[in-house]
Amino acid sequence: MCRLSVVLPLTGLFVLIASVLGSTSSVPDPITCVTRGADLTQDGVVVLCPPGCSQWRTSVFGTGIYAAVSSVCGAAVHRGVLGPSGGPVKVHKLQGRHNYLSSYAHGVHSQALSHWTASFSLTKPVHVPLELTSDTSTTALPAAQPAKKPLKKPSVKKALQGGNKDCQMDIAMVIDSSNNIGQRRFNLQKNFVAKLAAMLRVGSTGPHVGLIQASDSPKTEFLLNNYTQPKELMFAIKELAYLGGDTNTGKAIMHTAESFFNQENGGRRGHPRVMMVLVDGWPSDDLEQAAMLARESGINVFLVSVAKPAAEELGMVRDKDFMKKAVCKDNGFFSYSIPSWFSTTKHVRPLTQRLCALDGLLCSKTCYNSVNIGFLIDGSSSVGDANFRLVLDFLAGIARSFDISDVGARIGAVQFTYDQRLEFGLFDYSNKEEAINALRRIPYMAGGTSTGSAISFATQKLFR
Ligand SMILES: *[C@@H]1O[C@H](CO)[C@@H](O)[C@H](O)[C@H]1NC(C)=O
Repeated sequence: MCRLSVVLPLTGLFVLIASVLGSTSSVPDPITCVTRGADLTQDGVVVLCPPGCSQWRTSVFGTGIYAAVSSVCGAAVHRGVLGPSGGPVKVHKLQGRHNYLSSYAHGVHSQALSHWTASFSLTKPVHVPLELTSDTSTTALPAAQPAKKPLKKPSVKKALQGGNKDCQMDIAMVIDSSNNIGQRRFNLQKNFVAKLAAMLRVGSTGPHVGLIQASDSPKTEFLLNNYTQPKELMFAIKELAYLGGDTNTGKAIMHTAESFFNQENGGRRGHPRVMMVLVDGWPSDDLEQAAMLARESGINVFLVSVAKPAAEELGMVRDKDFMKKAVCKDNGFFSYSIPSWFSTTKHVRPLTQRLCALDGLLCSKTCYNSVNIGFLIDGSSSVGDANFRLVLDFLAGIARSFDISDVGARIGAVQFTYDQRLEFGLFDYSNKEEAINALRRIPYMAGGTSTGSAISFATQKLFR
């Protein structure tokens, strides 16, 4: 689960800032490739990125201005202010905004995001202390130079032929090969998958497709780089043999998320990862955890349900909400229903378009339904009753922008002075209005301030 905690220590703020400033000096703080903008507490701080961050599967949202959930070093590579051997970058904190744009630059594919609560931008630092000069040597740059520099390094994409250049996805197709589907409908499924593959137009510079069959145990039939020409791919799909067994789709998703997209297995760096999962009827196992794991590894999971359970079959289905729970809750973008295997043709085009719609893909990591938000609220005497109410209003505003529901986001709150009080936990309210009302009703404690122990308390009580 994504965990996002908003710490609002009003009086504690001085203490925190003072201690952070003490450690700034002139030496940049080393960070890792996965450090996010939100992890940095200071504005204008110079941090030191390790080498090779472009090779990491870093998550970057936006172009020029990045959502605070983005990897700082990944964004710096994307922005063109950081080379492959790492080095210092300066991080400027900015307000949250709407519509972070996706783009491909310097080998990094950034993603779109509809909104986020904080942002940052990046520049090359003007002065870098001598003891840090590495071979990157980004020292002594003219002050006027920063982030405005146009990104017009030669594009990494080479002019190889073949494939739909507007669809650069790596796509894993997880198909249903269970007893439930049966040989006849399995063949219809193969036709459908072949049509999808044809319309996707695979090729060296287009989408790549690999395939996994779900039954008792998942079976990887071919990897992303095995067939990059349409004819070979069509042939491989036609040759697929029916397996039979249970519909352990969750197991197949888990298996695919584990290593299918790794570079050793033919996954391409900087290409969006998409998993399309076909389910005939309903799965035998649990999809929720598996799909969450896949989303958290940065895979966009599409669930295509064909011939969904009829009313009289629902009694046999272990989880009636399996569709809702398996996908990122994003207006149904990631789930698709087809009434029957006998009428799939007209769904080929819309589904292809969705699989290729880069801007529609929200990284699973920021998927709202996997967010647990803990509010840690300063209730010390120095805040005062009026300000305390203001803070609650502010938090209610934040909470309102999330989709709080039983399958959506969750919020919880802890108030602290010297002491801590769990106001309500993440699972107390599964309805937005109730959660927001509970937030507004929190009575003011008034007392001392002990932020450190409050954070430990919240970690344990809220996020256990
Ligand atoms: C796919 O490629 C891998 C190596 O990249 C190879 O080991 C495997 O045999 C290939 N599979 C097929 C079905 O061609």
